[in-house]
Amino acid sequence: MAKPTLLAFLLILIFNITSSSFSATAAGDDSVYESFLQCLESNTNPQEEISKLVYSQSSTSYTSVLRAYIRNARYNTSATPKPVVIVTPTQISHVQATVICTKKVGYQLKIRSGGHDYDGISYVSDMPFFVLDMFNLRSIEVNVNDESATVQAGATLERTLEQNATDVVYKWQLVAPQTSNDLFMRMLLQPVTRNGNQTIRASIVALYLGNSDSLVALLGKEFPELGLKKEDCNETSWIQSVMWWDESQNLGKSPDVLLDRNPNDANFLKRKSDYVQNPISKDGLEWLWKKMIEVGKTGLVFNPYGGRMNEIPASETPFPHRAGNLFKVQYSVNWEEAGSEADKNFMTQIRRLYSYMTPFVSKNPRSTYLNYRDLDIGVMEAGKDSFEQGSVYGYKYFNDNFDRLVKVKTAVDPENFFRNEQSIPTLPNVEHDSGVTAGGSTSRSISSMLILIIHPHKAQNLTRMKRSPRHRSPSPASKD
Ligand SMILES: *[C@@H]1O[C@H](CO)[C@@H](O)[C@H](O)[C@H]1NC(C)=O
Ligand SMILES: *[C@@H]1O[C@H](CO)[C@@H](O)[C@H](O)[C@H]1NC(C)=O
Ligand SMILES: *[C@@H]1O[C@H](CO)[C@@H](O)[C@H](O)[C@H]1NC(C)=O
Ligand SMILES: *[C@@H]1O[C@H](CO)[C@@H](O)[C@H](O)[C@H]1NC(C)=O
Ligand SMILES: *[C@@H]1O[C@H](CO)[C@@H](O)[C@H](O)[C@H]1NC(C)=O
Repeated sequence: MAKPTLLAFLLILIFNITSSSFSATAAGDDSVYESFLQCLESNTNPQEEISKLVYSQSSTSYTSVLRAYIRNARYNTSATPKPVVIVTPTQISHVQATVICTKKVGYQLKIRSGGHDYDGISYVSDMPFFVLDMFNLRSIEVNVNDESATVQAGATLERTLEQNATDVVYKWQLVAPQTSNDLFMRMLLQPVTRNGNQTIRASIVALYLGNSDSLVALLGKEFPELGLKKEDCNETSWIQSVMWWDESQNLGKSPDVLLDRNPNDANFLKRKSDYVQNPISKDGLEWLWKKMIEVGKTGLVFNPYGGRMNEIPASETPFPHRAGNLFKVQYSVNWEEAGSEADKNFMTQIRRLYSYMTPFVSKNPRSTYLNYRDLDIGVMEAGKDSFEQGSVYGYKYFNDNFDRLVKVKTAVDPENFFRNEQSIPTLPNVEHDSGVTAGGSTSRSISSMLILIIHPHKAQNLTRMKRSPRHRSPSPASKD
């Protein structure tokens, strides 16, 4: 009899401890949730029933809504900080109400939309925060006037070191940025084991606007070392080529696979980026192969620039990295083992390779691709001098355009409400001014800011709702 009594006692004790500590935190969050909800309701039309679009941590769907757009397992752990509330607007007015009410209760607002978020900044924060999740606002309009299909060829070729990979990679640097505007040739470099030896595999994947005969002729002239043959190519429709970039096994399947919004796969991963402006010498490449093998698993992807990118001045849009760059480098490592040891191992690897690449890449600043978000290059901490900290990563992402972006930011959001670890900072001398004196009406600053942060295809809807006639969508990124 003694044992069951003791067990029951322990259970009760444990239950009490957990439930009382839980309710202590939950009470604070609950009252914030209640006042936030009241504010939302008074700022929206009652028929819209906005409360149905708001998830607190005790909502049954909270976890599935939060996880639905996590694509990096590093931020899918129990230790990852979670939002107090997630709001999932279906209308523009909900977005505005969310901004007003989050500001009112004094929480940080993280905004999650489409596209890459390699370092989780749209749904993770060290401060108490809400998530504004834009996944319901995703309509896209396509005007198909002319239904004729464009035929393209996707070619895949592999070379390992024994097969003159160094020569091929060297030559690729000269050809890929200069060749026909109809040809995009991506180079992938990956440490692999062949016959028990470590080596580097160089693969080229390419997309060409035209038929395979003309591609074979073009590359026979410009890049004979590749030995491209017609059998290496697949002639296919544009939509099939999109599917092939997404997943090469998709070739030939129904385009419906692209509609799957629940891939439920999140590797542990880290990405970094660089720009190369002068070809890396053959000696430099040979040295790089040794370092890649020494480092371990991290791969490199070289994405050629040139083409139309070369014709548009850096100052034309916020994104500055166009003319003058031969190619962009993506550093890429994925792993499957959970836990801090694997995390440390792979994070150290990729940072070492990044450091080894220093002599070959852009300098002053060492330019970085915004869409491969990388918190290693500097972060803005809450309450600190945002301009000084923001300048560290800001010039790398935006080069000279950074100064102009800071001016815009300071004009439309002087309080720096819309912020994340790497957002555009405000100028220091106006940082303490309130929005009331500097920005005109609150709703005006809000609508301007939305244009800056929303994914291109969503912003189109906002544009149509005549919020910012001057918005220009960045060019679509392929899956990379
Ligand atoms: C490798 O390069 C050497 C010298 O440039 C050349 O003689 C040889 O044919 C090449 N091998 C291959 C497989 O391309
Ligand atoms: C690679 O492996 C093969 C077969 O095991 C061996 O004969 C060859 O010497 C190795 N090459 C190098 C460079 O170690
Ligand atoms: C072309 O597509 C076929 C199947 O549709 C596939 O077997 C072949 O490997 C593809 N070739 C390339 C180069 O991707
Ligand atoms: C995130 O973690 C949960 C719990 O371990 C798991 O069930 C879920 O599949 C993970 N999400 C993804 C996208 O891998
Ligand atoms: C986006 O625009 C389309 C067409 O104008 C409209 O049907 C849709 O409701 C809009 N979406 C939002 C969220 O306003």
